[in-house]
Amino acid sequence: MSDGLVYLDNAATTFPKPIEVLQGMVDAYARVGVSPGRGNHDLAMQADDMVAQARARVARFFGAPDPDRVIFAANATDALNTAIGGIVRPGDHVVATRLDHNSVLRPLHHLAAAGVIAYDLAPFDGRGFVDPAAVAALIRPATRAVVMTHASNVLGTIQPLGEIGRVCADRGVLLVVDAAQSAGQVPIDMTALGVSALAFTGHKSLYGPSGIGGLVLQPAVEVETTRFGGTGMDSSSLVHTRAYPLRLEAGTLNLMGVIGLSLGIGFVEARGLGAIHDREMALTRRLRDGLAENPGIRLFCADDLADHLAVLTVDVPGMDPQDVGAILDGDFGIAVRVGLHCAPMVHRDLGTIDRGAVRFSLGVFNTPDDIDRAIAAMDAIPHPRRR
Ligand code: ALA
Repeated sequence: MSDGLVYLDNAATTFPKPIEVLQGMVDAYARVGVSPGRGNHDLAMQADDMVAQARARVARFFGAPDPDRVIFAANATDALNTAIGGIVRPGDHVVATRLDHNSVLRPLHHLAAAGVIAYDLAPFDGRGFVDPAAVAALIRPATRAVVMTHASNVLGTIQPLGEIGRVCADRGVLLVVDAAQSAGQVPIDMTALGVSALAFTGHKSLYGPSGIGGLVLQPAVEVETTRFGGTGMDSSSLVHTRAYPLRLEAGTLNLMGVIGLSLGIGFVEARGLGAIHDREMALTRRLRDGLAENPGIRLFCADDLADHLAVLTVDVPGMDPQDVGAILDGDFGIAVRVGLHCAPMVHRDLGTIDRGAVRFSLGVFNTPDDIDRAIAAMDAIPHPRRR
């Protein structure tokens, strides 16, 4: 990517997508692009089979025992709405965290505003981590679930899910995880971590297209249907299909997306999730070290990049992050994301709620040269402390 655009907005969506994913999507859709599970002609069955294989691959990838408990959704937000709306009952209490994205915060807020549930948010510490004891302290008899992000999309910090999973198991509470940022960057074994339900998206570190994601459930977790429609089954009944996965899928699936998601997971598996992450973290450390030498930049939660995604968020005191982003883009050809990153509580606690901050996020195709260009560009910006 070094000759043209330096794309450092991979936490929003990875770009570019691997050519083998794009090509594979076109090839498969050209061959079998019909409605899976609808009609009993051979092509529809081939499409259905492709979807079944994708469910099996997703289940394996996340350490889930039952492919029928892989529900395809449009993205992590869609999957979280399905999970939260289908799990809570009137009078329930939910624990989330101040690291969470609006994909968790807004469904909870709206349910609370309608008087259905109450919820509390666990704080994060100065390094960007939620203490499992802080989650435990908020659990009360009415608590149905802990719903939280696996990794902060602003700070990049990977939360201690295993310990929180043990807290939830001890207290008889479900653990619903937003893995939008972490899926594909770090291994996730739902069963080992004690995760009851995992929401993910395909277009970030799984290197698939946008418009496809999913919800993966442990077999004992029941999620009620909140949307109803055609499933291609039990069509004489007006009652929506109760069997998973169709219980939580209504209407024709995004087959092109399912194919792309499956190919994206294949791409990550072929390159090796650990190898991708190690390389991205080496580049993130290079970026951190370079930016740390700039006296006009304040880095957030980057002293120790252990348990961290390839994400760095910074502030340039005295400058509007929108201006920093515009200069990086317009003058240097560097794409970053500025603002609040849809995670308002994080910015409230960082003291950046008014204007947000500047986020650099790396992907598999970034090079050392990209990082050096970003450091040099930040050095060249005439920030207030240098004027
Ligand atoms: N949630 C995505 C981000 O962090 C879009 O940018």
